Amino acid sequence: MSAINTYIQENFSRFTDELMELLRIPSVSADSNRNADTSRCAEAVKEALLKVGCNHAEICQTEGHPIVYAEKIVDPKLPTVLTYGHYDVQPPDPLELWTSGPFDPVIKDGKIYARGSCDDKGQFFMHVKALETMLATQALPCNVKFMIEGEEEVGSSNLGTFLEKNKEKLKADIVMVSDTSMISMDNPSIETGLRGLAYMEVELTGPNRDLHSGVYGGAVANPITILAKMIASLHDDNNHITIPGFYDDVLSLSTQERLDLNKAPFSLDSYKKDLEINEVWGEKDYTTLERTGVRPTLELNGIWGGYTGEGAKTVLPSKAYAKISMRLVPHQNSQKIAELFTRHFESIAPDSVKVKVTELHGGEPVVTPTEGIAYKAAAMAIEECFGKKPIPTRGGGSIPIIALFEKVLGLKTVLMGFGLDSDNIHSPNEHYGLFNFQKGIETIPLFYKNYTALHQNSK
Ligand code: BES
Ligand code: MN
Ligand code: MN
Repeated sequence: MSAINTYIQENFSRFTDELMELLRIPSVSADSNRNADTSRCAEAVKEALLKVGCNHAEICQTEGHPIVYAEKIVDPKLPTVLTYGHYDVQPPDPLELWTSGPFDPVIKDGKIYARGSCDDKGQFFMHVKALETMLATQALPCNVKFMIEGEEEVGSSNLGTFLEKNKEKLKADIVMVSDTSMISMDNPSIETGLRGLAYMEVELTGPNRDLHSGVYGGAVANPITILAKMIASLHDDNNHITIPGFYDDVLSLSTQERLDLNKAPFSLDSYKKDLEINEVWGEKDYTTLERTGVRPTLELNGIWGGYTGEGAKTVLPSKAYAKISMRLVPHQNSQKIAELFTRHFESIAPDSVKVKVTELHGGEPVVTPTEGIAYKAAAMAIEECFGKKPIPTRGGGSIPIIALFEKVLGLKTVLMGFGLDSDNIHSPNEHYGLFNFQKGIETIPLFYKNYTALHQNSK
C-alpha cells in the first residue's frame, strides 16, 4: 500500500471524529438565530486548516457570513489549486422526520448521519484531511489555496464582491470543488455541468383584509384560488413551461450528445421504487436524465396563505404566496429569465388581485471542460482509486459561484464530488458514506499528483 493510503488508514477514525465535531456546529446560514454558530463554524474550519499545516489562514468578514481563506504555498513556480467548499448547511426541518438529531452525528450502517454530512462539510473536509495526509507523507506536489464560504445555501450573494476584491490572493491555475454527486460507488462519475437558477417569490393580494368566508366568499376573489390557477398554467399538457421566450436561448443537444448522455447507468425502476412513485413526470419527449441534466425546469418550492393551523377557520384570506424557482441550462441567463417570469406572471393575473413578484437570487449555468489537463487529472485519479474510468454526467443542482470563478478570476473548475443522489441532502436524515469519505481522501492526492505532472509537461 502507498504511504498515503497507509497514513489515511491509520488515521481514518480520527478523521471521522474530527468531521463529527464539525457536524455538531449548527451553521445554518438561512437562520439568523444561528449566526453565532455559523461564525463559530468558520473559526473551527480556520483552526482545522492551520492544524493540518497551512502556512496562513484567516477569517474574511463579508456583509453576510464570513469566508475562510487559507493557503499552503510550497513554491510559487509550481501550479496552484484553489479548493472551494461551503461550511454552511440547509435548515434541518422537518425535525420530526430525523431518526437522530441533525446536529448530533451518529454512525449507522457505515454512514454518518447529520445535516451537512454530505453537503458540504463531509466533502470539503476530505480536502483538509487530504492536505494533512500529503504534508505528513511529504507528498504535496503543488500549492493549495482554500476558500470555504458560509453562504452557499442562501445564494452566495457576497462572494462575487469577495472575488473581485481578492483577485491577487485567489490567483490559481484551477478550481477544485467536491460538492456534487457520483452515479454510484460502482459507477464513478464526474459532473461536467451545473444548472443555473432564478429564484422568485410571488405575493397575491385580494381584499385589503382577511374576510369571513361565508359573508364575502363567492363574491370576492380568493387569492389562494387565483394563485393555484396561475401556478397550474405555468406548465402546459406536455409539461412545457408556458412563459413566452423561456426556451429561446436553451442550447439544444445533438442526437449524438443525447445518446451519450443516456448511456449513463440509470434504472427507471429503481428510481421509482426508491421514491415510492408509480410514475415519473416531466417534459414530453425527454428522458429522466435529460430532464434533470440538460433541460430547464420550473418548480414550486413552497406555497402558503390563509389558515394552516389546527382545526378549521372559515376565512377568505387577503394574501397568498409562493416560492418558485427555475433551473437554467446553457445559454439561458438568470436575469433575463427572472424578467420574463415577472412580466408573464403579472400579465396572467386577473384584475381581481394585485400581484407582486420579487427575485430572491439567481445564478448562471456552467459547463466544465472534459478536455484539458484538470479533467484528465481527476479522471485518472478516480480510475486509479476506483478501478474504473469515471463517466461524465450533467448534474441537476446549482452552485452559482462556479460561473463567477470563470467570469471574475478566469478560472476553470473541476467538480470532483463523492456524494450520492440518495444521500438525502437538504432533506431529513442526510448522510455520507464513510467509504465515500475515505475514497475521496484517497483520490484527492492522486489528483494533485496528476495535475502537477500534466501541468509541468504542458509547459
Ligand atoms: N451541493 C449543492 C448543489 C448540488 C447538489 C450539485 C447535488 C450537484 C448535485 C449545493 O449546496 C446546493 O444545494 N445548491 C443550491 C443552490 C443554492 C443557490 C441554494 C441548489 O442547487 O438548490
Ligand atoms: Mn453544496
Ligand atoms: Mn446544498
